[in-house]
Amino acid sequence: MTEYTIRLLESPEDMINAEELQRTVWPGSETDVVPAHLLITVTHNGGIVMGAFVKNEIVGFVFGFPGLEFLPDGPRPKHCSHMMGIHPDWRNSGLGFALKRAQWQMVRNQGIDHITWTFDPMLSRNAYLNIAKLGAVCNTYRRSEYGDMRDELNIGLPSDRLEVDWWLNTSRVERRLGKRARGTLKLDKYTKAELQPLYSFGGGNEKRPQPPENLGPLEGSLLLAEIPSDFLALKAADLTLARDWRYFTRELFETAFEKGYLVTDFIFDQVEGRPRSLYILTDGEITLEDQD
Ligand SMILES: CC(C)(COP(=O)(O)OP(=O)(O)OC[C@H]1O[C@@H](n2cnc3c(N)ncnc32)[C@H](O)[C@@H]1OP(=O)(O)O)[C@@H](O)C(=O)NCCC(=O)NCCS
Repeated sequence: MTEYTIRLLESPEDMINAEELQRTVWPGSETDVVPAHLLITVTHNGGIVMGAFVKNEIVGFVFGFPGLEFLPDGPRPKHCSHMMGIHPDWRNSGLGFALKRAQWQMVRNQGIDHITWTFDPMLSRNAYLNIAKLGAVCNTYRRSEYGDMRDELNIGLPSDRLEVDWWLNTSRVERRLGKRARGTLKLDKYTKAELQPLYSFGGGNEKRPQPPENLGPLEGSLLLAEIPSDFLALKAADLTLARDWRYFTRELFETAFEKGYLVTDFIFDQVEGRPRSLYILTDGEITLEDQD
């Protein structure tokens, strides 16, 4: 169990440390580092920048600011969470979850009940954290949201993103963040109920699976859509294959959202010694509370 503390970042020194951490998390593009002066201005105007510390060293941070969503009956306040990064040596230690939980508390204290952010739908760990552990949901797909990105994590592919909605005061979210958090979902729970994944991988090997040739029809109250569990390794080995996956999942999510499905959960499970990563999409007619 990692011993850490979470606290607000406020001083110029804190922000310089957060700048430096960004260079480690997203190396390769100085232009894309959010500078200390902007982080300070954000915190002086309702934004929230928090750090995770191990032995007084910053190893993670989350940064967001108040925003508006534009609804037919007028604008409504929300918090836009723009960045979260954990030092590579400290990933999978629960720090991302802890930072988001602290952000949830801070934003609720501001009287805001909705946080949005975007993530790359091909990143299994991010999907698992955002959807399964934090209880965010999603029915918004944004093609090439940030144009051609230049940092090492994102270079080479269109920057398509899922935008998630985190409804802070729902029992769905409160339960996931509470002391008795839900256990992890198992794939066999679904397959035993005769719910099969929408498609099998279209060939390749375990480390470099190919997307199927065709998406096929999307029908039923729940859909299971599988993605590779380590997309960054796949991308480093084969950029063309990574691009095929980008375009396949673009079609998948755009078609599903068009038909009224929402992303409501995510399975990350070891099956016969192999990691499996699957989105769960729910027909929008079924309420989210029915899912738990
Ligand atoms: C995404 C990121 C912020 C998550 O932070 P983190 O501290 O590693 O996250 P946590 O440890 O709280 O949670 C990750 C969970 O994913 C699980 N996980 C690990 N590998 C996984 C995979 N391939 N697929 C699915 N889940 C995975 C972990 O086991 C953990 O779950 P658990 O706590 O139930 O065991 C961090 O990995 C990161 O900085 N990535 C690079 C930058 C980035 O993508 N930022 C987000 C967009 S701005």
